[in-house]
Amino acid sequence: MRTIVIVAAGVLIVSGLGVLAQQGDPISQRQALMKNNQEQLRALTGMARGQAPFNAAMAQASLQQIEQNARQTPALFPAGSQQGKTDALPVIWERKADFDARASKLEQDAKAAQAGITDQAFLQAAVQRVGQNCGGCHETYRRKES
Ligand code: HEC
Repeated sequence: MRTIVIVAAGVLIVSGLGVLAQQGDPISQRQALMKNNQEQLRALTGMARGQAPFNAAMAQASLQQIEQNARQTPALFPAGSQQGKTDALPVIWERKADFDARASKLEQDAKAAQAGITDQAFLQAAVQRVGQNCGGCHETYRRKES
């Protein structure tokens, strides 16, 4: 039984990486990555608000995933990938250094937040700090829903 669980976890990790590695198209890759960001943030917000039981290990795992996603973000916006079914605004490639710096800031905030998660109150503050990076970048670089 234990082996099965371990194997299943291994498959999950491998297939998680596979999502990014297999699809060649950077637009669908980054959209999948961003959807994952949203899932992680939703899990964190639920815990921070007390809608789900506080679990430090799970919170840490979500923050770690966001950290990894953020590290991969700059490379998924290569030059010339503004065409197609994308909400990425062309201004990204006019200010790529700022865009990349925002991804890096998210990475660092998500990393820093992992260190001291001991209770719900801490998580609340951490989620807010991490989440600001999402809205901040979208504000400038993502097409608004009409
Ligand atoms: C460095 C800038 C940046 C940061 C930081 C960022 N995003 Fe995004 N996000 C984008 C851009 C640009 C798009 C549009 C991508 C596209 O359509 O090609 C996007 C798209 C999305 C989408 C829509 C994906 C889809 O299905 O098309 C979601 C959901 C999302 N982001 C959530 C998040 C969350 C949650 C965070 C924070 C944990 C975050 N993002 C951080 C730039 C960013």
